[in-house]
Amino acid sequence: MRTHPKRSKAIGGYLEMQLPKGEEYYPSLIKLNTGRNALEYILKVNKYSLIYIPYYTCEVLLEPIKKSRIPYSFYTIDQNLDPVIDFYIAPTECFLYTNYFGIKQLTVQRLSGQMQNLVIDNSQAFFSEPLAGIDTFYSCRKFFGVPDGAYLQSNTISNLKFERDVSYNRVSHLVKSIDLDIEDGYEDFIENNMVLTNNPIKTMSVLTQSILSGIDYEDCARIRNRNFRILHQALSGKNKLVLNPDDSYAPMSYPFLIEKNTVQKKLINKRIYIPTYWPNVLKWTTPKMFENYLCIHLLALPIDHRLNDNDMNRIISYINLLI
Ligand SMILES: Cc1ncc(COP(=O)(O)O)c(C=O)c1O
Repeated sequence: MRTHPKRSKAIGGYLEMQLPKGEEYYPSLIKLNTGRNALEYILKVNKYSLIYIPYYTCEVLLEPIKKSRIPYSFYTIDQNLDPVIDFYIAPTECFLYTNYFGIKQLTVQRLSGQMQNLVIDNSQAFFSEPLAGIDTFYSCRKFFGVPDGAYLQSNTISNLKFERDVSYNRVSHLVKSIDLDIEDGYEDFIENNMVLTNNPIKTMSVLTQSILSGIDYEDCARIRNRNFRILHQALSGKNKLVLNPDDSYAPMSYPFLIEKNTVQKKLINKRIYIPTYWPNVLKWTTPKMFENYLCIHLLALPIDHRLNDNDMNRIISYINLLI
């Protein structure tokens, strides 16, 4: 509940929605409204002269970069989703790497020992803890049913103050998914995501923080790990990406790279929803580039905490039929 500093506590009245009270996963990190705004914060306090970003990422990251008027330069990744760094990074420049699907923590560790101004985008790696001294941000809605919210580890001390966000008007898809079917909330999901565009940096809303405080993180991570291993065991032989399940902890999804590019649509017809990461990559790259291939051929198979062994087996049998 929002507590106004100058008002006494309300007693009585109607009853509010009750959410379980627990602890957030990253209670000591900076709490902001969105991942992109966490990047804006990093750019604001560090005043870098240029940022290197991967071709293989979401275009919303250009929002804070353009807002901050910082020049940017794209870099490519290799078959292991590792960055190809064949250029000089000046001491005033920073390098953004995405912990893809939550399976690239070893690369994050390696890079952290190699360069000075590393920024880690853990939007796809909620459960990968930030490394000491490395600016790292998280976007909570990729892992949990929240409308927004981001965590940030920033190593530059600043006394920036922000207004608190309010997100009660962006939860219709979350509420519909409980009361109706997940598909019934889809249009609202798109609209509620759209309104996250071009917002100022704000601190995390009380609503988002309350939901995040009630989650059983251990259970969510355990289920993700189990589902990942089930898919890996069944599909790794057919996966063009070489994955080491020991490198990843509770990833976002199981990245399955195959030659055929018709499977996503067929799975969607079976109510197995596979997102495209990221449609903008097709605009940014040429058909010969690996990132372009990834965008078309990579199936990010769902492994989230709602899913059990039967769901994984359903995914596996459809895939075996389709490829
Ligand atoms: C890899 C990646 N980083 C950052 C973001 C931005 O997160 P947010 O939507 O919380 O701003 C997204 C998607 O939105 C993303 O896919």
